[in-house]
Amino acid sequence: MNPLRESGSGQFRQMLLADVREIAMIERRAYPFFWTEGIFRDCIRTGYHCRVLQVPHGAIQAYGILSAAVGDAHILNLCVREELQGCGLAKQVLSHLLDLARSVQTQTVFLEVRASNQRAIRLYTAAGFCEIGLRSGYYPAAKGKEDAVVMAKELPMDNDQLSRGRNFFNRLG
Ligand SMILES: CC(C)(COP(=O)(O)OP(=O)(O)OC[C@H]1O[C@@H](n2cnc3c(N)ncnc32)[C@H](O)[C@@H]1OP(=O)(O)O)[C@@H](O)C(=O)NCCC(=O)NCCS
Repeated sequence: MNPLRESGSGQFRQMLLADVREIAMIERRAYPFFWTEGIFRDCIRTGYHCRVLQVPHGAIQAYGILSAAVGDAHILNLCVREELQGCGLAKQVLSHLLDLARSVQTQTVFLEVRASNQRAIRLYTAAGFCEIGLRSGYYPAAKGKEDAVVMAKELPMDNDQLSRGRNFFNRLG
C-alpha cells in the first residue's frame, strides 16, 4: 500500500518559497516539459494564487496556480503527485481554484491544455469548462510542436455580487 495514499486527507494552504524544491520534483515527474524552480518562484513573488494540498506535516500531494485580474482568471498550472493520480485530488484542487476565483469576483476562468492531454481535458470538461479555441503549435513537443486547447468556464455571480453591482449602478444615478 502506498503510504502517501494512507496518510489522510490534505489541507489547502499558500505555496511558500520553501516549497519550491519539492514542487519542482513533483512537476518534473508529471510533465515531459516542466516548469523550472524559477518559474514557481516568480509566480509566488508576482502574487498569483499559488496553493498546495498537503497532508499536515506530510508530503505535498498536489498544487495549483491561478492568476486573476479584472474579472478574468487563468489556471496556469494544476498538478497531482504522480503516485496519487486517479484518487480525485485534481477535482479538489480545481474546485479550490474556482472558489478562489469566485472570491475575487471572477466572471470567466480560462486555461490552456495540450491537445493530447485527454485526462486533463476530461477533468476540465466535467467541471463545466468548454473548448473555445485552439492555439496552433503552442507547446514544445517531442516531435516539433503541439496545439493548445483553450477552455473557459463562466462563473455565475452570487447574490452578494449582484447586489453590489446594483448598488454601484444606483449610485451612478
Ligand atoms: C491531469 C491530472 C491533473 C488529473 O489528476 P487526478 O488526480 O488523476 O484526477 P482526479 O482523480 O481528480 O480525476 C478527475 C477527472 O480527471 C479525469 N481522469 C482522471 N484520471 C483519468 C484517466 N486515467 N483517464 C482519463 N481520464 C481521467 C476524469 O474525468 C476524472 O473524473 P472521474 O473520476 O469522475 O471520471 C493529473 O493526471 C496530473 O497531474 N497530470 C500531470 C499534470 C497535468 O497534465 N496537468 C494538467 C495541465 S493543464
